[in-house]
Amino acid sequence: MEIALSVIKADIGGYVGHSESHPDLLAEADSCLAKVKRQGLLIDYHITKCGDDLQLIMTHQQGENNEQIHKLAWDTFVSCTALAKKLKLHGAGQDLLADAFSGNVKGMGPGVAEMTFEERGAETVIIFMADKTSSGAWNLPLYKMFADPFNTIGLVIAENMHKGFAFEVHDIKEGKKITFNAPEEIYDLLVFIGAPSRFMVKAVYHRVTKQIAAVSSTQRLSLIAGRYVGKDDPVCIVRSQGDFPAVGEVLEPFTVPILVEGWMRGSHNGPLMPVSIADSTPTRFDGPPRVVALGFQLSEGKLIGPRDMLADKSFDNARQKANDIADYMRAHGPFEPHRLPLEEMEYTTMPQVMKKLAKRFIALE
Ligand code: 13P
Ligand code: 13P
Ligand code: MG
Ligand code: MG
Repeated sequence: MEIALSVIKADIGGYVGHSESHPDLLAEADSCLAKVKRQGLLIDYHITKCGDDLQLIMTHQQGENNEQIHKLAWDTFVSCTALAKKLKLHGAGQDLLADAFSGNVKGMGPGVAEMTFEERGAETVIIFMADKTSSGAWNLPLYKMFADPFNTIGLVIAENMHKGFAFEVHDIKEGKKITFNAPEEIYDLLVFIGAPSRFMVKAVYHRVTKQIAAVSSTQRLSLIAGRYVGKDDPVCIVRSQGDFPAVGEVLEPFTVPILVEGWMRGSHNGPLMPVSIADSTPTRFDGPPRVVALGFQLSEGKLIGPRDMLADKSFDNARQKANDIADYMRAHGPFEPHRLPLEEMEYTTMPQVMKKLAKRFIALE
């Protein structure tokens, strides 16, 4: 049975500040999707949140980039925005950058990750969602899952993974894409994906079966809006088990709280802390950045689950490490590399301060 799995997300208002989603917004989204499920457009859905980002996880048979599915997501965000405005939540409608829906939510603010596949005998999927970080944050974890034998022993000892995976990388500045084969092209691959603010792993494919293994959202809000409107807070879908990395291999990269951009005012680097859905409440300096993971088994498109995968105790050390790194990074205050370099800062007074002081700058001898 061919199934499409769509994860479409938007920040349509924070509670309190940018730290959490109001439960009434999740309830409103639920009632919007329940109605459509009854009408048969969706097979199933699950509504959740990561920090102040509302997440719509949907299964259906309409394929990717489907206008009806995207319109459903857009209309749901619009309804929730009306409620967010009524509650006077912070930044109500923050990520809805267009006045009206025009066929596809891509380029309109929401983040989108979608894939279509023939459902396997046991279809294990894990959906990663992050808050206070930007698209590109999945580059390092996806590399570890699908190309690093120190993370994924299956690449070495499982025959069905031994030929490796192919990485589709997008250059979001030039609007181009390229595919690299791992393991033989990993040095070339790393030249690019080591610069995640420009080059992003969009998708990963099995080398032999050509099956889709992972897909991420690569929308960059600042490029769409031309100004700072909030962080991308990206999502990523990963298929697991069988020809793909085991659940434990998919989760293992998150034992290291890697540094990502997007903390406080979208202008700071900070550690990506793995947490449960309940703990995706970034408060300290509006962070530190969070990642959550929901696991499902699919059965004829029905979402069996979720399991809150990063709630497990085995991630306690990673959380502790993230808090220690947060202390260390915060000690830098307004200095790089805690603060992002000038050209990457989403939020800056530099032009105004420069203008004010222009006459006081005199040439060096
Ligand atoms: P969000 O992108 O999650 O709304 O965060 C905005 C911000 O800059 C918080 O400091
Ligand atoms: P305001 O949204 O109140 O300007 O605060 C800045 C912030 O939280 C960063 O998005
Ligand atoms: Mg917000
Ligand atoms: Mg957010």
